[in-house]
Amino acid sequence: MPARIAFAVEAMDPQPGSDVLEIGCGGGVAVALVCERLRRRGRVVGVDRSATQIDRARRRNRDGVDAGLAELRVGEFPGVDLPGSFDLVFAVNVPGFRSEDPAAPTAVASLLRPAGELWVFDEPPPGLALGPVSMRISALLSRCGYAIVDIVERERTVGVRAAPPDVTASSAATAAAATSPR
Ligand SMILES: C[S@@+](CC[C@H](N)C(=O)[O-])C[C@H]1O[C@@H](n2cnc3c(N)ncnc32)[C@H](O)[C@@H]1O
Repeated sequence: MPARIAFAVEAMDPQPGSDVLEIGCGGGVAVALVCERLRRRGRVVGVDRSATQIDRARRRNRDGVDAGLAELRVGEFPGVDLPGSFDLVFAVNVPGFRSEDPAAPTAVASLLRPAGELWVFDEPPPGLALGPVSMRISALLSRCGYAIVDIVERERTVGVRAAPPDVTASSAATAAAATSPR
């Protein structure tokens, strides 16, 4: 069990009954841990662009898939079609959440419920400090309208917890600006 994944699931602490999405789920180790925590209520969807990884994830999570708790999809986020909305979306070591490109976090915002959370975990290469990594992730998420709630670290892994943009408030502000006299 990679330490980063154990840490990520422990930090997020997904609750029974939650709808959870992992982007870039690889071989499905985190999906299996989330499944255990759901206690047969809720669901976890894992998506990865690699069909080989999704095959591994399906084999690892056969019981969860058969019970309708886990769903594993091949696809490139954000292009992939995903069912419904989520309480918790997370990614561990996925390039789209450490780049300058707002596409992935922006797409996540439209999948999250209003009280939902996005967690981004990353593990810098040996020799690189964690601080700049969490700053880079936080800067990207802030630019996409997220509020940074917390930054957590354990050994070589950093996690950024973020609340989605308040779509209601921002659309109300846009409407007010559009109707206010100049
Ligand atoms: C470094 S691996 C990490 C896998 C797993 N999260 C872990 O920590 O072990 C990154 C994974 O993300 C997947 N990936 C990267 N970008 C993606 C995207 N835009 N959409 C879907 N999967 C993606 C890759 O195929 C790969 O399996």
